[in-house]
Amino acid sequence: MPYIGIASHAPGRRRLTLFVGFMATPMTFREMEERDIGRCIEVRTLVREQRYSVETLRQLGITVESVTTMLATTHKGWVCEIDRRIVGFSMGNRSSGEFWVVAVLPEFEGRGIGRRLTELAVQWLRAGACPDIWLWTSPDVSTRAYAMYRKFGWQDCGVQNGRRIMRLQHVF
Ligand SMILES: CC(C)(COP(=O)(O)OP(=O)(O)OC[C@H]1O[C@@H](n2cnc3c(N)ncnc32)[C@H](O)[C@@H]1OP(=O)(O)O)[C@@H](O)C(=O)NCCC(=O)NCCS
Repeated sequence: MPYIGIASHAPGRRRLTLFVGFMATPMTFREMEERDIGRCIEVRTLVREQRYSVETLRQLGITVESVTTMLATTHKGWVCEIDRRIVGFSMGNRSSGEFWVVAVLPEFEGRGIGRRLTELAVQWLRAGACPDIWLWTSPDVSTRAYAMYRKFGWQDCGVQNGRRIMRLQHVF
């Protein structure tokens, strides 16, 4: 949110500076609701890395209908909103202990949104006493997601069937 300000350089001096600054935009984290699912699928198609098209997601069985069923049964999700627009989300699956997804729009990366969304899902999986909290991701270790998971204590368990498996060892 840009704003214009005026700065006075010293008491009694007339020199003023006009500047344009940016106030920190408030972000809101809340539980995902059924009405959010379409937008979350859209966010998943717009990420910078590990991007999936709607068609590929459909082939993987991920549609508004299937995610609606998941949210009502095994899964729970969280969204981050800025200016009332969802810019990131995460989901976990308590029936399997899988940290299912985290995704943040490219222009909102690097602000701590991915960290918070990951924490929310992991806390929920832990509260459900999941014996094994795990995820699969790209085999490519140069992704931002891989660096984030390693930083947060996820152990790299290697690649199986083209997917890198990671398990959470420590509370972060
Ligand atoms: C992965 C992703 C969710 C991260 O979201 P983000 O909002 O940028 O994450 P954050 O700003 O909270 O940063 C996450 C942490 O990773 C760290 N990190 C990121 N890249 C890093 C790197 N190359 N080396 C070391 N640490 C790194 C950050 O420093 C930060 O740690 P901190 O909170 O202790 O400072 C986002 O990049 C994304 O959506 N990627 C595409 C989708 C994707 O790959 N999802 C995962 C599918 S398995």
